[in-house]
Order: sequence, then C-alpha cells, then structure tokens
Amino acid sequence: MTGFQLLPGRLDRQAQSDLVAALDKIIVAAPLFTPVTPGGQPFSVRMTNCGRLGWVSDRAGYRYQAHHPVTGLAWPAIPKALLALWAEYVDSQVPPDACLINLYGQGARMGLHQDRDEADFRFGVLSVSLGDTAVFRIGGTKRGGKTRSVRLSSGDVCILAGEDRLAFHGIDRVISDSSQLISGGGRINLTLRKAGAP
Ligand code: SIN
Ligand code: FE2
Repeated sequence: MTGFQLLPGRLDRQAQSDLVAALDKIIVAAPLFTPVTPGGQPFSVRMTNCGRLGWVSDRAGYRYQAHHPVTGLAWPAIPKALLALWAEYVDSQVPPDACLINLYGQGARMGLHQDRDEADFRFGVLSVSLGDTAVFRIGGTKRGGKTRSVRLSSGDVCILAGEDRLAFHGIDRVISDSSQLISGGGRINLTLRKAGAP
C-alpha cells in the first residue's frame, strides 16, 4: 500500500497554466458556488466540479450528484491532462468520475475531515494544487490523533491511498502572493475521485 504520496512539482509551469485555462472554461459552464454544511455554515472555499458526478453539500447533507446545484446542468468533462495523471498514479483501468474544484480566496481554509462520500475506498484520491502555496495538514484515520504539516505548492500532486485513504486532512491556510499563476491570486485545488460504485 502506498499511503500518502507527494509529487512536488509534478506539473511544470506550462501544464499548470494549461490547466488554469481549461478550468476557466469549466467555471463558465459550471459556476463556482458556496456550499453550506448540513448545519448551515457556509464553507470559506468556493467550489464547482467536473466529471459525471460532483460533490455538493447543503442542508440535506454531503453527497455526489450528476448536476450543478444552481444551474441544474450536467457537469463539464474532466480535462484530459487530469485523466492522464489518474491513470498514471491511481488506476490505469478505471477512470475517475468526479473532480472537485476548490477555490481558496483570501482567508479561506478547510477544516480537518476525511473523504468518505465515495462508494469504494480502494480507489485513491488524487489532488492537484495550483496557485498560492497551501499549508496542508494530514493525520491518521482517527480524529484527534497526531498530525503533520506539509506545504503544497503550485504544480504539486498528492495522492491519498492505501492506509492513508481515510486520513484526516485539511488546509490550515493559504500563503497569499506566493504564486503568480492565477490572476487575482488565490489557490485552486482539484481532487479526482472514483465516487460511484465501480
Ligand atoms: C480537500 O480535502 O477537499 C481539499 C484539499 C486541498 O485543498 O488541498
Ligand atoms: Fe478532502
């Protein structure tokens, strides 16, 4: 089992800006929205998705669904470059069916959580960081256990798989102006998953 794998600088500058251009188009078709927790608290990140399924959260709970919560439209397709990363590092046979796009603006963070809304935890979660550097925190599979801090910079790819598939993780903060990639600043994180049953 591979556990947590970090591939620093896996995407070069050109690959990063190509992805940002692809994401700009996706965000036109599937606008960013601000989800709320089941308790009604708004997230500090804005989100959208691409792929057959998208992760959403509202008063009814966390779930994957096939349409955008505001427009009601199907999500746009996952960019080919992301499918290729998944095939290389996660599964060469079964493609991902969901890609969550998180946009961290000024002050945004993400509390410690597990990714557990997917049907089959045998598939890892592949994450791509773009733009400003994030201070990522990762622990074990029990809440309240020991954690460590890892910086995720633009172009870094990381994978949560095997024994770390259900590790608690989150974003403590994003370091403003640490990258010039995204006009207007901020950070984009992409997480590719196999969400539906295989
Ligand atoms: C997430 O866990 O959904 C996001 C992680 C990240 O932003 O790197
Ligand atoms: Fe997560």
